[in-house]
Amino acid sequence: MDRLGLLADPAVRSAFGNELGWAIEYHASIASTQDRARELARGGAAPTIVIADQQTAGHGRGEKSWLSEPGASLLASWTLRPAPAEPGLFTLLAGVAVTMALRTFGVADLGLKWPNDVWLTNGKIAGVLAHGAADHLVIGIGVNVSQRELPRAIADTATTLARAGHDIDRLALLARLTRQLDAAADPANHDALLAEWRKRSITLRREVEVTDAGATAFRGTATDLADDGALVVETPYGQQRVIAGEVRVLG
Ligand code: BTN
Repeated sequence: MDRLGLLADPAVRSAFGNELGWAIEYHASIASTQDRARELARGGAAPTIVIADQQTAGHGRGEKSWLSEPGASLLASWTLRPAPAEPGLFTLLAGVAVTMALRTFGVADLGLKWPNDVWLTNGKIAGVLAHGAADHLVIGIGVNVSQRELPRAIADTATTLARAGHDIDRLALLARLTRQLDAAADPANHDALLAEWRKRSITLRREVEVTDAGATAFRGTATDLADDGALVVETPYGQQRVIAGEVRVLG
């Protein structure tokens, strides 16, 4: 049973938020939780989770659209103040937080693709998006939960928890994910979380192609993740540190 809609009730929302230690703003439908959370953060709001049952203009990294069927995904953005890390690094830490939250529901075979994808077996199950400013950071996460069918544009590369046989309540997932993000915001945990990222990586030790703004930049072997979150790629012309761009795993 999915209980996310209970957050529409102000009393439930307030009790649930108090329990978690976060203010919660719930929308049955919104353009993008990320845009709304950034607006709240810029206005100086206390740490807030913006969560929606449906997004009409959700977006991902590189301003790609994030497609989601109404009522079927976890769609949320958290405002963190002060910023716990640079956006690039916190994107990776939040990806680990997603895997840890999902594992508490018995979801296994999770992998992390640099920089912001969480994969389940052979499909993308979740994506992470970070926007930073001087005094805050907004982290947005979309998890495919109960869709049985996926839009044609992502059908070959994405999957959902339901398709993998998991029936997960989005309200419970929100609570466990928020706890994991709280832990990821503590710098004392960063080394351990980066070690976990390296362990779960499906990018490291693979041949990759790194492209920037659509142009082929270079190919090489992804050999390490630096402590600042850069992907280290060995190429015939020497070592490259990748901090932006698209990384495609070749084989
Ligand atoms: C990606 O894979 O490129 C990141 C996807 C991030 C999607 C989430 S859904 C909640 C939040 N609101 C948005 O518009 N985007 C993020």
